Amino acid sequence: MKTVKTISEVREQVRKWRSEGLTVGFVPTMGYLHEGHASLIDASHRDNDRTVVSVFVNPMQFSPDEDLESYPRDIEHDKELAEAHGCDVIFNPEPSEMYGKNFTSFVDMTVLTEELCGLSRPIHFRGVCTVVSKLFNIVKPDRAYFGKKDAQQLAVIRHMVEDLNMDIEIKGCPIVRENDGLAKSSRNTYLSTTERQSALILSRSLKRGQELIKSGVKDCREIVSEITSVIDSEPLARIDYVKIVDAETMQQIETLDRPALCAIAVYIGKTRLIDNFFTEDI
Ligand code: PAF
Repeated sequence: MKTVKTISEVREQVRKWRSEGLTVGFVPTMGYLHEGHASLIDASHRDNDRTVVSVFVNPMQFSPDEDLESYPRDIEHDKELAEAHGCDVIFNPEPSEMYGKNFTSFVDMTVLTEELCGLSRPIHFRGVCTVVSKLFNIVKPDRAYFGKKDAQQLAVIRHMVEDLNMDIEIKGCPIVRENDGLAKSSRNTYLSTTERQSALILSRSLKRGQELIKSGVKDCREIVSEITSVIDSEPLARIDYVKIVDAETMQQIETLDRPALCAIAVYIGKTRLIDNFFTEDI
């Protein structure tokens, strides 16, 4: 496995693979890789002849009061994990390689980005769409892999690819959880031992929501209210949102009469965690 730092090196490598008739899968990440990322790399390795993983903590998707500086980084561990799961090239650029001095072009989206995480993180999806477009233009993959844990991000990327006619197949992969149910996330590392225990309330509350749906409840207000009261029973938890939205448009719905996403964002102490389920996956 090679690690490259420049756009021209990635392009050269991918051009070579293309000339040999090989297919290319791509897993964009911000590093500090865990088993969730590993499952994306595994999927890419299965579906494609070659796999590129990018490790880039994208400054553009963090607002000034967020955790850009403290975001966990460990490139040596990332290299080991990526290689063990079949990655061929890690692209690990410096911010200056991705954003030149005169950078003034952005990819923005309305509607889908104005719900859920977009409400508390207003510039986030502009940063995500911009960097993912750039990475797609650099790597030019056949397929790209995203985790369903960032369900809104997955919907936004799918929509961007459709709107902008990008010739890339987007693959959504299942959430990977710890044995006790906590969804794997690089940000779990911020949690103290007590907070780590409290954070289980996210998956527990969603389980309760799923039980209601399985028992036939279709009224979204009732499901949201039950999930909210489960989360509120945890003293260290503070809800950002609990919502049920159309799985494609991310717009809030009243009744479960179409494929839907039930998504939550909850602060445990200072750490904001997200989790969700798609009704289709119950
Ligand atoms: O999901 C992430 O890690 C990031 O948002 C992404 C897609 C790599 C863009 O920076």
